[in-house]
Amino acid sequence: MYLANEKRYETMQYRHCGKSGLKLPVLSLGLWHNFGHVTLYDNAREMIRKAFDLGITHFDLANNYGPPAGSAEENLGKILKNDFSSYRDELIISSKAGFDMWEGPYGRGGSRKYLISSLDQSLKRLGLDYVDIFYHHVPDEDTPVEESMLALDAIVRQGKALYVGISNYNAVQAKEAIGILNELKTPCIIHQPSYSMFNRWIEDGLLKVLEEEGKGCIVYSPLSQGLLTNRYLNGIPKDSRAGGQSVFLNQEQINEEVVSKIRQLNQIAVDRGQSLAQMALSWVLRHSQVTSAIVGASRVSQIEDSVKAVHHLNFSEDELIRIEEILK
Ligand SMILES: NC(=O)c1ccc[n+]([C@@H]2O[C@H](COP(=O)([O-])OP(=O)(O)OC[C@H]3O[C@@H](n4cnc5c(N)ncnc54)[C@H](OP(=O)(O)O)[C@@H]3O)[C@@H](O)[C@H]2O)c1
Repeated sequence: MYLANEKRYETMQYRHCGKSGLKLPVLSLGLWHNFGHVTLYDNAREMIRKAFDLGITHFDLANNYGPPAGSAEENLGKILKNDFSSYRDELIISSKAGFDMWEGPYGRGGSRKYLISSLDQSLKRLGLDYVDIFYHHVPDEDTPVEESMLALDAIVRQGKALYVGISNYNAVQAKEAIGILNELKTPCIIHQPSYSMFNRWIEDGLLKVLEEEGKGCIVYSPLSQGLLTNRYLNGIPKDSRAGGQSVFLNQEQINEEVVSKIRQLNQIAVDRGQSLAQMALSWVLRHSQVTSAIVGASRVSQIEDSVKAVHHLNFSEDELIRIEEILK
């Protein structure tokens, strides 16, 4: 039987999600890769247990995570049932709908039909009565934003999610969606955009909107899918995301220019007494508006490494200037 580490809340830091009462760990764990049926269940289970033992209370999913789609939710459902049934109230579980999930016109997008039926399916796979946060995964030009936001509102009122959020909305789209949800008094507390040293689009307006609206920001792929770690300093390991089957990171992306930047950034990390992954996480968390960074992992040791970022989150002016020079 799994018994969680008694000291799990001693080191992790927690930040309020915008102006809401909900706090999230500064590092959350995402189940996009390495938690589906194609990977080893025992490894997935060990990673979830270790994360929780280290104070990571938040696990992020979506309907389509796997592969196959839905299997990450099924596996987490099994792990929750086996190991975490007495810890449900210490966990924040999120899911999403928006990308392709099932055949036909109702299996993707932003319609009320899709969002509500997809969450019903997710709850079955997870074996839960409710998720803590449910997101519209991606804006849908073919659906009026009012319809998607009213669906999120209905989901909360039906008791299927405690809070809602939006993901991948740009600054203008986010402002409009948040405006509708505020009018409805729906507890929309969070936006989930991508953000890392290699992908800085949210600095150009979105962070400001979230600050003004008092919403939290949880950033995904803060390690640029593993590029901002020690994984690719010396070639492409076979057991890495780029070396494997994932269609989201390919070998061409690991070119000479990228590797040169990674090596220079790694030197700054070494000078700071951190791993490159830890520095990349500290760097996204330097914004007070960023509530949490969702990391992925393929093994327990990566989670153990990443959480140590909390020991050194601040940067000197000089370090920030050196980093800017490399990222130019
Ligand atoms: N809302 C959205 O549209 C959206 C889109 C994408 C992701 N997300 C969320 O964000 C989560 C994270 O995305 P991501 O997996 O791309 O994040 P990431 O943290 O940028 O990359 C994770 C990968 O980095 C490597 N890694 C992690 N920690 C490491 C460490 N300490 N040292 C060395 N390597 C390390 C591992 O690569 P290897 O596998 O090569 O070992 C791991 O799979 C997802 O699971 C999902 O929950 C959301």
